[in-house]
Amino acid sequence: MTDSSTQNHYDRLTIAIHWLTAALVISLWLIGQLVDFVPRGPVRMGIWSTHVVLGFTLCALLIIRIVWKLTAARKVAPANAGLMGHAATLGHLALYGLLIAVVALGLADAFVRGFNIFNIVTLPTIGDASLRRPINGWHELAANAIAALALLHALVALFHQYVLKDQLLGRMGIGRA
Ligand code: HEM
Ligand code: HEM
Repeated sequence: MTDSSTQNHYDRLTIAIHWLTAALVISLWLIGQLVDFVPRGPVRMGIWSTHVVLGFTLCALLIIRIVWKLTAARKVAPANAGLMGHAATLGHLALYGLLIAVVALGLADAFVRGFNIFNIVTLPTIGDASLRRPINGWHELAANAIAALALLHALVALFHQYVLKDQLLGRMGIGRA
């Protein structure tokens, strides 16, 4: 029998959700940044609808991830002891915090404008119209903050893998036999 306390890599579901989350965060950020280059009209609205649908997908994944982590996920000891280990834990907590913030503000952004998804579903309008601008601004701020922290996080992971050569990516399922 495998003792879960001796495992030094994440379980399959955590790994699958991690990479799906990464793909969604990058796609959502790119859509949010690049959509301004598309002229106003149905194509642009379709792109925003895609953003909102992917956003709801990310929201569902985040809920599954948090419930899984708090209940049945494999407990993995920090890759490094001491200060480095504490810094990594803090960085991961900040990523979770920003994920929750950007998703909550994205949902608020969609509901405060009663967003129409692909002309198929119109979300109920919740909240005052005067909240539209500030919520949109906070959503964009949180989106840029998570993009910056995720970039730093990826660079640290690549530094571990290729400079320290400690096989850190193997913990997240990359290159592990
Ligand atoms: C772009 C969005 C990303 C987000 C939001 C994200 C988020 C996270 C979070 C929250 C954890 C902690 C997992 C836990 O303990 O529950 C984690 C771990 C990890 N991530 Fe990411 N990640 C992203 C992208 C990446 C990329 C691009 C790479 C690789 C280049 C990467 C490599 C890793 C590795 C290796 C771990 C395990 C670190 C360890 O065991 O100490 N992540 N990620
Ligand atoms: C990591 C996740 C996300 C990122 C990185 C992200 C990024 C962005 C960015 C950069 C903008 C452009 C802000 C501006 O210039 O006005 C934006 C707008 C928006 N986002 Fe997100 N977003 C995310 C999640 C979500 C979610 C979960 C939802 C809702 C389900 C959502 C709904 C919206 C809406 C409704 C807008 C405004 C659309 C419009 O102007 O018509 N986003 N997002």
